[in-house]
Amino acid sequence: MLQLRWFVLWATYCIAIVTCDKKWWQTSVIYQIYPRSFKDSNSDGIGDLNGITESLWHIKEAGIETIWLSPIYKSPMYDFGYDIADFKEIQPEYGTMQDFENLIREANSLDIRVVLDFVPNHSSNESEWFQLSANRTAGYENYFVWADGTPDPNNPGKLLPPSNWISVFRKSAWEYNPVRKQFFLHQFVIGQPDLNYREPRVVEEMKNVIRFWLDKGVSGFRVDAVPFLFESRPEDHGGKYPDEPRANILETTPDDYEYLNHLYTMNQDETYDMIYQWRDILDEYESKDGKPRVMLTEGYADIKYVMRYYGNGTHDGSHLPFNFEFLNNINNQSDARDMKFIIDKWMTYMPIGRTANWVNGNHDNKRMASRQGIDRADAMNMLVLLLPGVALTYQGEELAMTDGKVSWEETKDPAACNTDDPINYNKFSRDPARTPYHWDDSNYAGFTSGNKTWLPVADNYKEVNLKAQMAAAKSHYKFYKDIVALRKTNTIINGDLEVKVISEPVLAVMRYLPNEPIVLAITNLSSSEHTVNLLEFFRVLPENMTVYASSIAAKLQKGERISTSRLVLSPHDAIVLVSSA
Ligand code: NOJ
Repeated sequence: MLQLRWFVLWATYCIAIVTCDKKWWQTSVIYQIYPRSFKDSNSDGIGDLNGITESLWHIKEAGIETIWLSPIYKSPMYDFGYDIADFKEIQPEYGTMQDFENLIREANSLDIRVVLDFVPNHSSNESEWFQLSANRTAGYENYFVWADGTPDPNNPGKLLPPSNWISVFRKSAWEYNPVRKQFFLHQFVIGQPDLNYREPRVVEEMKNVIRFWLDKGVSGFRVDAVPFLFESRPEDHGGKYPDEPRANILETTPDDYEYLNHLYTMNQDETYDMIYQWRDILDEYESKDGKPRVMLTEGYADIKYVMRYYGNGTHDGSHLPFNFEFLNNINNQSDARDMKFIIDKWMTYMPIGRTANWVNGNHDNKRMASRQGIDRADAMNMLVLLLPGVALTYQGEELAMTDGKVSWEETKDPAACNTDDPINYNKFSRDPARTPYHWDDSNYAGFTSGNKTWLPVADNYKEVNLKAQMAAAKSHYKFYKDIVALRKTNTIINGDLEVKVISEPVLAVMRYLPNEPIVLAITNLSSSEHTVNLLEFFRVLPENMTVYASSIAAKLQKGERISTSRLVLSPHDAIVLVSSA
């Protein structure tokens, strides 16, 4: 009897350990590298793989455990690598397969994991698959979404596109191919024909792409443009691709993507099953060698659709569907109530047992410090790093890098070039967020030792750069790095979350776990001083706490003891307080 009780106790203890034991990806900071703009090792003005390998010291020094590389595959670069000509080859201007293998080896030796971009929705129109499909080569006929044109009633002999669908980058999503004498679908640029996921051979090809890179030692994938994988079938609409209805958004023209409501080209039910199938592959690898792999999914969609990526009652899906709520719904006018609302939204919708993630920016959006204001950059970094789960950092966010200036003549992004509008192109351009990383104050910010860069370097690199911020007594980088270190504590890994609006401009986020130090992140979003009594909001707080980290402009300094009943916050403070255990 006694033995049985011991056994039960021991088993309970083991289960407790297993359930508390998080997998690496559940607690990681994932740092997005845009390879073209990170570090150039061969002086051609374009970042490359050896540049990343040389720079791994920075990732390690910052305490970051995982890097995600935007596409490095062979590509004509109409959409800077998201138009892939060969899914299993490296783009020559980025290096060779050997360079890639070397990068993986070096990263692993530093305990840094590498996640790659997986771009399943489309290939390049210069891929062999597309050429074979355009020629109707046996086996490849249905690799892409092909359809006959409709005769133009006003223009005999002319063909109109099969439906009114619009590309994300403006104008018709259909392009006529004179070889095949049919239109093909491209939800992004013309050079990105959509693969046809109703063709089993495509499904298998792309699964093999996943296996190919897993065999090379990558730890997972960020999956691109997931909502676009499937389109409605003509069979379900009287034999024709159905027109999409108008969205009735003011000030849009028929060429604008926002002009239509994308009922038939996004978020189709079949999408989720495809994610579950990819998840199975990652799980198979994990069950073979015991090493967990991760899938992050990109979907700008209503939160209910995004939550379906996580899985359903019977099937696991994406480990981390990107949480774009900060990106989409928080700006430099947002107050503490808006922030709490957005944090609670994700935590409320997320299915039980899943891992949250927090995104401040990426290569497709204005840089975080430009969108939120430099004053708020530390606060935004603090939030994504201290909320439960995974924090995403886009290269440069740790320095509060702002958008670079890119003239119309220098503009490369198809989203901007397609506007043909030298005045308003910047509204659409993603180039300002993609200008080279600021390593130091030498020529071209230390990005290259050559005499040109593919996009201009932002003007402020002499003040805003890694070297200067590492040397300064206080800097955005040092604040960021201190908080990354705090993520290794039990409180942040396993602790509960409580978010409180202290006043309109003051937000407080508490993380706590019994018998562990309490962590409290507090920010004053306004430009005036505020004195707060935290004890009115968090009863468990002790009377005194210690300042663990303080933002660049804060008066309170690291190590200072403060009174939680009378905390004075200066304008734009972001402060992390800890209690003694
Ligand atoms: C999302 C990527 O992040 C973006 O850069 C790209 O243009 C589209 N998907 C198309 O692949």
